[in-house]
Amino acid sequence: MEIPFHKSYTDETDTAAVVEAINSGWLTMGPRTFEFENKFKEQVNATHAVAVNSCTAALHLALKVTGLKPDAEVIIPAMTFTTSGEVVRYFNANPVIVDVDPETHNILPDSIEQAITDKTRVIMPVHFGGQPADMDPIMAIARKNNLLIIEDAAHCFPSFYKDRPIGCIGDITAFSFYATKTLACGEGGMATTDNPEWDEAMRVQRLHGISRDAWKRYSKEGSWFYEVIDAGHKYNMTDIQAALGLSQLKKADLMWRKRSAIAERYNKAFAASELIEAPVIRSGNKTSWHLYVIRLAIEKLTIDRNRFIDALAERQIKTSVHFIPLYRHPYYQKTCPTDIGKLKNSEWLYERIISLPIYPGMTTAETDYVIENVLEIAQKNAR
Ligand SMILES: Cc1ncc(COP(=O)(O)O)c(C=O)c1O
Repeated sequence: MEIPFHKSYTDETDTAAVVEAINSGWLTMGPRTFEFENKFKEQVNATHAVAVNSCTAALHLALKVTGLKPDAEVIIPAMTFTTSGEVVRYFNANPVIVDVDPETHNILPDSIEQAITDKTRVIMPVHFGGQPADMDPIMAIARKNNLLIIEDAAHCFPSFYKDRPIGCIGDITAFSFYATKTLACGEGGMATTDNPEWDEAMRVQRLHGISRDAWKRYSKEGSWFYEVIDAGHKYNMTDIQAALGLSQLKKADLMWRKRSAIAERYNKAFAASELIEAPVIRSGNKTSWHLYVIRLAIEKLTIDRNRFIDALAERQIKTSVHFIPLYRHPYYQKTCPTDIGKLKNSEWLYERIISLPIYPGMTTAETDYVIENVLEIAQKNAR
């Protein structure tokens, strides 16, 4: 059996939606993009949703419209993708990389408090793998210190924190619709907010800084006239992407149920093992199950994480590592040197994490094949 790390879950309804968009004669941002924004914001209880071409773009615009300045500091977790640091560096501002919870891999409120200085402007939690960070204490710290909360919800559709969907808690929330994400447009992103000024500013910024949506120029009420009011960006979503997004949205719940069933099967199988630790989901949290990350009890094994991954690959099971802690990358070592001694949990996690395949089209036989091989490799290499 060959198990890829990810396989997209698309069917003929997705294909038909995309073909319909192409045949409509309108390929770029237009009616399907606005319909996608409206449907998405309802799903996450947000007042506004701005569709863009990636989560990275959504985070960049969020920092821009909330006024990030050079030399300001933004607190981010160590267990994240480079996006978290990259978007801060666009402004010549400084990411401050802090430690995470060893069980949930999410940013720790205590680490945030310790990292606040008079230059801190924003806290940017990442909801790891789809499980929300502990937002109540994080929001309280932000309000007490007059900081903004911009959430990286790239992994989070659909995720809930204490019955509230991720997308309506912080000041601005950014989602990803990248090919491997729980709702996929190939590439794509969305910024949600309850603030009408930031909504309007992000709409302007996503399309070159033009004062009104250029697409209107070509519609019935449009005219040739437009004004450029800032050096904006070319970050808009296209109607082809939005058609796929709308079609995927209709099966979001089905896809979530399928991923949850796989996670439950994994959980049950690993619960009895002393060598493999399953993800810990805190009560009150609902995860999207974008990732299923196990932790190896490496003290009890004769092989390390890398050799474990190789052994799985020899059995045709592809896995990944989320994430290489951000401070380990050469760029971040150069631009924001971090005291690794203060990031003990991230270092501890990095030695033992493996992301197993989890995607809606994965069959029970495929799931069992992964389970069998993970347990067998662990047992064969137990001390
Ligand atoms: C935590 C996190 N944030 C942001 C991103 C970037 O998303 P996008 O590719 O849509 O820009 C990713 C991508 O994998 C991610 O894992």
